[in-house]
Amino acid sequence: MSSMRIVEVGPRDGLQNEKQVIAAKTKIDLINRLGECGLRTIEASSFVSPKWVPQLADASEVYASITKRPGVRYPVLVPNLKGMERAVEAGVDEIAIFTAASESFNQRNINCSIAESLQRFVPVMELARANNIDVRGYVSCVLGCPYEGPIAAAKVAAVAKDLHSMGCYEISLGDTIGAGTPKLAAAMVAECSQSVPIDRLAIHFHDTRGQALANCLACIDLGIGVIDSSVAGLGGCPYAKGATGNVATEDVVFMLEGMGIETGIDLDALIETGRFISEQLGRENGSRVGRAGNWPQ
Ligand code: HMG
Ligand code: MG
Repeated sequence: MSSMRIVEVGPRDGLQNEKQVIAAKTKIDLINRLGECGLRTIEASSFVSPKWVPQLADASEVYASITKRPGVRYPVLVPNLKGMERAVEAGVDEIAIFTAASESFNQRNINCSIAESLQRFVPVMELARANNIDVRGYVSCVLGCPYEGPIAAAKVAAVAKDLHSMGCYEISLGDTIGAGTPKLAAAMVAECSQSVPIDRLAIHFHDTRGQALANCLACIDLGIGVIDSSVAGLGGCPYAKGATGNVATEDVVFMLEGMGIETGIDLDALIETGRFISEQLGRENGSRVGRAGNWPQ
């Protein structure tokens, strides 16, 4: 593989989990800076219930104010028809719907069963089609659930297949609590690729136990070409106890560059952006490359 696509999820997955109030201006600055770094997909926010995720209650304001760079996608999360109506009103061109391979997690995260969530997505998909909006699908807890423990790869593959069949152009496989290790991650992706073509699969690994980069590498070896990551390693899910940030975008880009795989991202500018948001949030930079700096390879 000579190039890979990075989906930057920091402004959504990262900021949804912050305890402190973050000004809309900071979110907008972050997204604009990420665009300047050469990222082609930047998940901007979530049109979820503000009662459930108050941090992203300003999704419409943020979406309206960001600089939409040509050739860059700014998807938003949508959990139900109400969120989809808000997304259409905001004028988005891509959304992500999300469910899980674990019933217990799904109940805590979106207050319904997996089957009910798929039913909820039917009218969302109809509205998306009517408005020419692309839809990505997430499956959470693909390598373990904070409430149920290990999750069978066959269950993950079945949910991924359902999302793909209903029209999601890509399925992102989320290790929500960073439970996975490389062989298990690769086995899970291999199982999913029996139901969904591998070029329609993406990986979304949280780095809770320091395994995310190794897990990414194992999946790249299988042919995965899309990685979700978060600048400065921001992230976590407020409804997954103990979940920490995503694999850091800086660390992924550094590894890929070292392997001769292009991403189109300016790593120095990205490191600056990671330092900017870490300073704004008053937290330690979660990217090892962000802390150490770049190194010519
Ligand atoms: P519910 O309480 O069952 O829904 O929540 P409801 O329909 O009864 O609505 C409750 C209230 O919220 C109502 O307001 C609705 O109008 C309002 P009230 O009548 O009480 O004033 N409401 C909304 N408002 C704005 N936008 C909406 C919306 N929907 C309802 N879209 C619901 C069900 C799905 C809404 C809720 O559970 C929810 O929003 N959950 C989202 C949780 C979330 O965002 N989690 C993090 C994202 S997932 C993630 O991080 C994992 C991922 O990164 C992959 C991985 O790492 O695994 C993607
Ligand atoms: Mg996540």
